[in-house]
Parts: sequence; C-alpha cells; structure tokens
Amino acid sequence: MSTSPQHTVRVGDNLDVLATLTEPFDLIYLDPPYNTGGRVVQAYTDRFDDWTGFMAPRLVHLPRLLTEAGIVIASIDDREVHHLRVLLDDLLGAHNHVGTIVWDGSTINANHLLSVSHDYLVIYAKDLAAIKATGTRWRQERPDASTMLEAADSAWRAGHGNADEAQKRFRAWLLPRRAVLPRGLTEYDRIDENGSLYRVSDPGAPSEQASRSFRPLQHPVTGRDCPVPKRGWRMNDASMDRMLEEGRIEFGPDHTTQPKLKRMLQDNATAVPRSVFRQEREGARHLARVEGAAAFPFPKDVDVLARWFDTVAADNARILDPFLGSGTTLEVAMALNAADGGERTVTGVVLDEGRIIEDVLRPRIRHCEQVYGEPVATSHEDRRTPTVVA
Ligand SMILES: C[S@@+](CC[C@H](N)C(=O)[O-])C[C@H]1O[C@@H](n2cnc3c(N)ncnc32)[C@H](O)[C@@H]1O
Repeated sequence: MSTSPQHTVRVGDNLDVLATLTEPFDLIYLDPPYNTGGRVVQAYTDRFDDWTGFMAPRLVHLPRLLTEAGIVIASIDDREVHHLRVLLDDLLGAHNHVGTIVWDGSTINANHLLSVSHDYLVIYAKDLAAIKATGTRWRQERPDASTMLEAADSAWRAGHGNADEAQKRFRAWLLPRRAVLPRGLTEYDRIDENGSLYRVSDPGAPSEQASRSFRPLQHPVTGRDCPVPKRGWRMNDASMDRMLEEGRIEFGPDHTTQPKLKRMLQDNATAVPRSVFRQEREGARHLARVEGAAAFPFPKDVDVLARWFDTVAADNARILDPFLGSGTTLEVAMALNAADGGERTVTGVVLDEGRIIEDVLRPRIRHCEQVYGEPVATSHEDRRTPTVVA
C-alpha cells in the first residue's frame, strides 16, 4: 500500500538546522533573503561582506547535502547574483554551473533610470559532467505551443472538419501573431485531414549511409515513382513504412515533386528549456487566495517553480529548501505530485521570527494538506535568536 509523501518543516535558523541534516537531496532550492526592503531585525547592511558572510557558512553544506545527480536552483536578484555566483563557483565548481535563467516577471520598481524587471534562477549541478554522461535531456513545454494547438483545434471545429477551411482559419489567426511567436513554432501552419497541426521538413539524409532507405515512393494518385533524395531518405525502410502508414509523409500534386516529412506540433511541443522567459509574477496574488494567510513579501510563484523543479528533478525527488518562508516549495511539490502521481518530499527550514509561522506558513500548510492530502510534520529544534531575516 502506498503512503503519502511525508514533508517536514524544521523550525530554526538554517545555520543550525543544515548542520544536523545528513540525507542527501536531489534538489536544493535556495531563495535567500535579498533586496531586504527594510525588513531587517538585526543589522544587515547589504554590503558584499555582509551578504556573503551570511550565506557562506550556510552554503558550505551544499556539496555534502547533494546526491551525485543533485541540482541546486537559487532565486536571486540583480544586486546579489554575482556574489552568489562567486560563492557557488567556489563551493560547487564553476564547471558545474548549468546556467543562469532570466525571469522577466514585470516590476514594481519606481526607479527613474532603469526599471529592473527580472530576477534570476541560478542553476548548478553537483556533477554536471556525470549528468551529461547519462544522456539526461531536460525538456519543457515550448512557450506558446499549447496556444497554437488550441487555435488549430478551434479552426478545425469552426471549419467542420474540412482541412482546407480549417487551415485558412488557422492562418488568419496566425497572421497578426507571426511576428511575436517564435519562428520555430510559426512554421507549424498546416492542418491535415485529421485536424493535426504540422510543418513539413526535408526528408533527405544528411550523410550517405547504407542503412538509409533509397526506395522510391509511389505517388498515391499518379502511381509513378517520386524522386529519391541524393543521399537517400533520413530513415531506413522499416521507419519509412511506419511513417507512410501513419500518414506522416506528404506527397506533392504529382510524382515530379519530392515527398516531404510531416512534423506534428503535438509530438514536438517540448524543447530544451531556454535561459530567458517572461511570466507575470503571481506569487502574492496566489498566496492572498489562501484562507487565513497574511501577506508575505514576494512569495515565489508556484507555476514557475513547478516548471523548473519538474524539469531538473525526478518525480520522487527529495527536495531541500533552507529558506522556506511562506512555504511555496511545499505547495509546488504537492501540486506536482497531484499532477503526475509523483512522490516528491520536501524538507524545509523556517525561521521562527515575527509571526510568519502562525500568520503565513501554518494557514498555507493547512490549505495544502486539505487540497492535496499530503501531511507535513513540523519540528522545533532551535529557538536561538535569528541572525538575519528578509
Ligand atoms: C526570499 S524569502 C523566501 C521566500 C520563499 N521562497 C517563499 O516563496 O515564500 C527568504 C526567507 O528566508 C528566511 N530566512 C532569513 N534568514 C534565515 C535563516 N537564518 N534561517 C532560515 N530562514 C531564514 C526569511 O525569514 C524569509 O522568509
């Protein structure tokens, strides 16, 4: 019988709690205090030495707490990103920096010279070479792919299942959007007789190899052989037969045109994630809908974290969040588990300062437990005075 994943919240200064942890984690999410905006209990003057001095003794635990394929994702802003990079390069090795994601989430910045609208997600691996050696491929849904598929579906329904009519309608929808949608996507502008959105691609093999198919294809109307690409087809005979059977070869008007390959968008709706994305910040609005939860400065977005956690870690990942704050990471893991049946578990550390536990974290945990049915255990192990808060 399977039991619910057990999440744990440890109350205390993460400086103390991290030192007590021994189990390795598949994913460590860091959202340290930055851009403090004046909410400071003890002196924290935002100078390089202060911030790195605060972070260094905490981050020093990372290598020990990561599995061999472990990943660190850190949320950070423009003011501290370079400090964080120096610290993480030192601790995990610059060669293990996977990349830095720019999240343009719009801004509430009243600056007169430059309105900085983005944050970063800095990603490191414990051992990037080892991850690459396993052939791991990160995939994410291509932005806008679902919008395109939905538009094609509406065009198909409005065209009452007539492919020409549906294609005409879809292209009318696409025309004003061509300039803003990624080119790789707008190439998908044809609708076939099953209502599927597709593009055509070159069927020729990039290099000559004996295993490729060199068989001429017969035109379905004229019955005569169509031209074969110079270096043969991209696939072998068996794959070509399968593609013919699945209707994935598009013939021209007659046998004088070389047939093309059909690439369906629904089969290519994911891609290697890009390092820049735009998504309006939703964290505060989301938290405001949690019954009984007080406002919290800049909670992270469930959707954004869910997308990245899902990209970089398996569905049974053990996740550590040393700066749990309002508990977003707990909700992310539970929402992902609910969506894919996974068994992600979260260990979070929350500083017992102000009324954050009573006013924000507890109501949110209650809400998540009700919605997702996954229990959260809380343990108080350290009640010393906090050193720094956001
Ligand atoms: C940027 S916020 C994290 C927000 C969180 N990701 C969310 O979505 O709610 C940083 C959090 O770290 C907490 N914090 C600051 N110093 C800490 C410490 N020494 N140990 C544990 N948490 C700490 C702050 O109280 C604050 O809640």
